[in-house]
Amino acid sequence: MSHMDDKIKELEAKRAEALKGGGEKRIEAQHDKGKLTARERIHFLLDEGSFEETGMLVTHRSTDFGLDKQKVLGDGVVTGYGTVEGRLVYVFAQDFTVMGGSLAEAHAEKIVKLMDLAMQNGAPVFGLNDSGGARIQEGVVSLGGYADIFYRNTRASGVIPQISAVMGPCAGGAVYSPALTDFVAMVEKSSYMFVTGPNVVKTVTHEEVSSEELGGAQAHASKSGVTHFAYENEIACLNGLRQLISYIPQNCEEEPPKLPYEPEDEARPALNELIPENPNQPYDIREVINGTVDADSFLEVHRDFAQNIVVGFARLGGRSIGVVANQPAYLAGVLDIDSSTKGARFVRFCDSFNIPLLVLEDVPGFLPGTDQEWNAIITNGAKLLYAFSEATVPRITVITRKAYGGAYDVMNSKHIGADLNYAWPSAEIAVMGPKGAAEIIFRKEIKNAEDPEAKLAEKEAEYGELFANPYRAAARGYVDEVIRPDQTREKLIKSFRMLENKVDTLPRKKHGNIPL
Ligand code: HXC
Repeated sequence: MSHMDDKIKELEAKRAEALKGGGEKRIEAQHDKGKLTARERIHFLLDEGSFEETGMLVTHRSTDFGLDKQKVLGDGVVTGYGTVEGRLVYVFAQDFTVMGGSLAEAHAEKIVKLMDLAMQNGAPVFGLNDSGGARIQEGVVSLGGYADIFYRNTRASGVIPQISAVMGPCAGGAVYSPALTDFVAMVEKSSYMFVTGPNVVKTVTHEEVSSEELGGAQAHASKSGVTHFAYENEIACLNGLRQLISYIPQNCEEEPPKLPYEPEDEARPALNELIPENPNQPYDIREVINGTVDADSFLEVHRDFAQNIVVGFARLGGRSIGVVANQPAYLAGVLDIDSSTKGARFVRFCDSFNIPLLVLEDVPGFLPGTDQEWNAIITNGAKLLYAFSEATVPRITVITRKAYGGAYDVMNSKHIGADLNYAWPSAEIAVMGPKGAAEIIFRKEIKNAEDPEAKLAEKEAEYGELFANPYRAAARGYVDEVIRPDQTREKLIKSFRMLENKVDTLPRKKHGNIPL
């Protein structure tokens, strides 16, 4: 046996020790909860055999509270790089079997090193979070470790994509880091996110609430909007992350991946049948999206949150686009606080990463009411206006039906920098709907009429004929072309190709001041 053989044996023993994480029993406990281990998660996320680990032998340096007897190789986080569909990505996965995946100095240093590499080499970072937050025994060093990560999350924002999955009970810093990243995914019934858990809530506010109710996947997918995706199980979640990254470039200097595309018959006659005769009858805007984009390419983001707006990635002629669409089937598609912030966040993501934007517009206006006004619909609605106005990627709007009031301006109108606006013949573009308009401008006439109801109907029809159509806007050039619904896909493929080399820069500034 050579001298090197002994050394290699020693190394292999250390590697085997590191692979055990918190030990067989704790791994079993993890499996019993329906959870994978950190390494299993990485295995399912990355291309087979592509993972290269870094920092496997790192341990913490603390001695307080008996920590010197609890050293585990890797210090509760697995870090490294590999590929997804052949593209380089960086990944860290916290190991709940080691002190609850809690983060302290050494654990944080590993993540920091990975993020620095990702920034230097311009590739996405996936964070698979399963952590009780700052390691309590290490005190301020743990807090410092988190702050080092938050700082990098922020610096990397808009430079490289950062995608988080929350795959266990995550508290404190373990939720703030994901919150700073571009997308958060959760797993139903096994992952939780909260700043303070149910026990603290009970002590402070006397509310009795379960972990699931307070910070489970459904709560954050539908109520808070903290998570963009909620998956049934971990495998579905990891597959979802692979799908998500397929629409997104490696960094802000690159274009999104392109799939091969052969032009074919792009007419979509089914789109001619979608708009109901009655303008107040809802329809599902997803049918317009799916009927327009490449087959099965629509990946909805934030599906269960603020459903009056639908956002997501799709492909059109093999190219990635971001879709922002009012949803007439939910609250008539009005803009409110949540839908405005949801839309604005998505627009800003797409703009950061060179993903062209398609807007499908059918919006009756902003939602009125004290709830909205007192919770700052003014500031929040302005976010969407701001996000569209500052976006420099190719931007196209198709007005399918209503484009009323301020919402016409906000939803990627040409006035705020959209490159092209198309309208279907069913479009109604006006300050407000015919009924509301007639009631205001013909109030006296209607009041004094022998039959006020008939007068209102007459004036409503008169107004509708004049303004509730796309032709006034087309005559001004605010709408570039009124198109048949069945031509939409073909028009959009050609238009986005035409805009492919668009160059638009913002005025020189440090950064803008989006109304937060
Ligand atoms: C050290 C921790 C820990 C932590 C969990 N553990 N959290 N050790 N620091 N923060 C350990 C537990 O002691 C336990 O060790 C093991 O991990 C598993 O934890 P359990 O409690 O048995 O698991 P579970 O019942 O599933 O509960 C998970 C949990 C709970 C909900 C995450 O552990 C918890 O509430 N932890 C504390 C959360 C917290 O307050 N963190 C600090 C946040 S402040 P043993 O040896 O018994 O198995 C923060 C500051 C950042 O993060 C700044 C933000 C801006």
